[in-house]
Amino acid sequence: MNHFSFAAVLVIGASSSFAASPSWSLMPWPKKVEAAGAPLRLDRDFRIEFTAAPPARLERAARRFLSQLTVETGVPITSSRTTRLVVECCAKPDAADRLGDDEAYTLHVSTTQARLEAETVTGALRGLQTLLQLARPDAQGFAIAGVRVEDSPRFPWRGLLLDVTSHFMPVAVIKRNLDAMEAVKLNVFHWHLTDDQGFRIESGVFPKLHTLGSAGDYYTRQEIRDVIDYAHDRGIRVVPEIDMPGHSGTWMIGYPELGSASGPYAIIPTFGVYDPTLDPTQDRVYTFIDELLGEISALFPDEYLHIGGDEVNGKHWKANAGIQKFIRERGLKNEAGLQAYFNRRVEAIVRKHGKKMMGWDEVLHPNLPRDIVVQSWRDHESLATAIKQGHPALLSFGYYLDHLDTSKVYYLVDPLGGPATGLSESEARGVLGGEACMWTEFVSPETVDSRIWPMTAAIAERLWSSRSVTDLASMFQRLDVVSRRLDWRGVRHNTNYESMLRRLSETAPLEDLRVLADAVEPLGIDGREITRTYSQSTPLNRFVDAARGESAAVRRAEAEAAAVSAGGSGSELERTFRSWRENAARLNAHFDGNALLKEAADVSRNLSRTGEIGLEALGRLRARQSSTEWATARLAELEALGRPQVEVRLVAVKPVRHLLMALQRAGK
Ligand code: ACM
Repeated sequence: MNHFSFAAVLVIGASSSFAASPSWSLMPWPKKVEAAGAPLRLDRDFRIEFTAAPPARLERAARRFLSQLTVETGVPITSSRTTRLVVECCAKPDAADRLGDDEAYTLHVSTTQARLEAETVTGALRGLQTLLQLARPDAQGFAIAGVRVEDSPRFPWRGLLLDVTSHFMPVAVIKRNLDAMEAVKLNVFHWHLTDDQGFRIESGVFPKLHTLGSAGDYYTRQEIRDVIDYAHDRGIRVVPEIDMPGHSGTWMIGYPELGSASGPYAIIPTFGVYDPTLDPTQDRVYTFIDELLGEISALFPDEYLHIGGDEVNGKHWKANAGIQKFIRERGLKNEAGLQAYFNRRVEAIVRKHGKKMMGWDEVLHPNLPRDIVVQSWRDHESLATAIKQGHPALLSFGYYLDHLDTSKVYYLVDPLGGPATGLSESEARGVLGGEACMWTEFVSPETVDSRIWPMTAAIAERLWSSRSVTDLASMFQRLDVVSRRLDWRGVRHNTNYESMLRRLSETAPLEDLRVLADAVEPLGIDGREITRTYSQSTPLNRFVDAARGESAAVRRAEAEAAAVSAGGSGSELERTFRSWRENAARLNAHFDGNALLKEAADVSRNLSRTGEIGLEALGRLRARQSSTEWATARLAELEALGRPQVEVRLVAVKPVRHLLMALQRAGK
């Protein structure tokens, strides 16, 4: 039944099921959404009316909304005679984005017009995104679903970190990801700008930082301002991270007097934790930091400044007699005490420049000012510990995109789950939210979108929506739609997949390459860094790089396998298994003489075998054939087939494993 014809209002609030709302591809799911009758028809006539003169940012957002509506529907809006959207906004004056801004909005779409109400521009921006997600084709053309929405976020800090040091990311990459962030209501862009692999921001006060520390790939101050403006237009704060006292080797290339060892220093093109560390015992280091952070603070309007503070290995501190003497004389106990001393002095500098300091969980130390924000990345415990010590905190542990976990794994990580479960209500208010982290050791501008999207949309929902919104089937259904629609924002996770597959072979049919690549998932950082030594100049053009972070095809096959185990026919699954089995024969002719593709030849053979086992398992299940021993032997074989090779994992074994286990159970 079409839900538009429901006579009664259908309320899908925090605690109810999603089963009744399959056609609203809203993500993140709103606080409250209910059907409100027939949809608003979409044609070329669409006028937006404001009940009061809109701030310039909202006017621009309205124009972007209309052009995005045209892009997403293909309906050119050429007439503005009829008011289709009334925006009542902005009792509060527009200002710079701040943590805790009111992002609430209400939306009512009726057959004649939509009405969006918000106290702030930010709220209106969020509502416009919801409205866009409600546009979809129906029997008469395009329409916006008739709904009533009341919405506001669960957490005020919903971020995405992008590392632009391991691999530099051009402004265009950042902008398209800001567009995607806006689409799923993320509101903090955490810009990891400096590290041993690159100092990526132009400094007027210390130009050797970017000239010697970046091999030419850095953002000019004008580009930084441009990104900040672009983000602000989308209601996204930009928080710069200037990592210190570790991950700071690029500072010492031009300014070796800042280091704890004598140098010489150079850009480190490989990845990991390295020794260069600022010398916290020298006043000149704080003078330098003061001037640099003064410049950074003037450039970035956000009230937060991230000083990193992670992974100080202490080697250069241990090897430096002067530093050891300083630790003893000041009673700092050890290197951790020295880092805490450093942090206190840096915090005073950050505060002097009108900013609040934040750092990774290593900065946590009993004597730190309480308003320092702690970002937990090493474990979930550190979030609870930080909160108990009185710090605001946010979670990134569990949201590391470079681990290439599945959307399901990311989705089920809750900032207030795990060790944070026991926090009191007032303590829990200190949990600001979370950030997905895209470290780019194994990611290029070409592949970065496919490692961020669509998984980050699932994280965005975790951070925006009510805690009880956890229905996986609903999430995946909506995620698939969001993923497709991100193409219209210019995100390249789908388009680059195709072009990267074509690069692997000019002769092999794209469809066959896709069947193979859809059957695997790349290993995350842990698996890749032990396989070979990577550097910034290692080509990321291989099969593993082309493969998407998460295979939607295998996820669907797994769902079908579960349905077969519960008595379903499995006809779709049979087609999938057949395509796997036959794919190797189709690709075989294309491996020779092609180094890029040949690497995947064994995987292709293994996929073929996986399809074969799957087909036989399906047949045995259907025939109710006693198969315990056979299934046990095939499970062992599958285990071998699924072992990582060429830095990918053949995830196609998963649905087959499901069937084999069903056969085992049936034999018991
Ligand atoms: C980090 O991942 N080193 C914060």
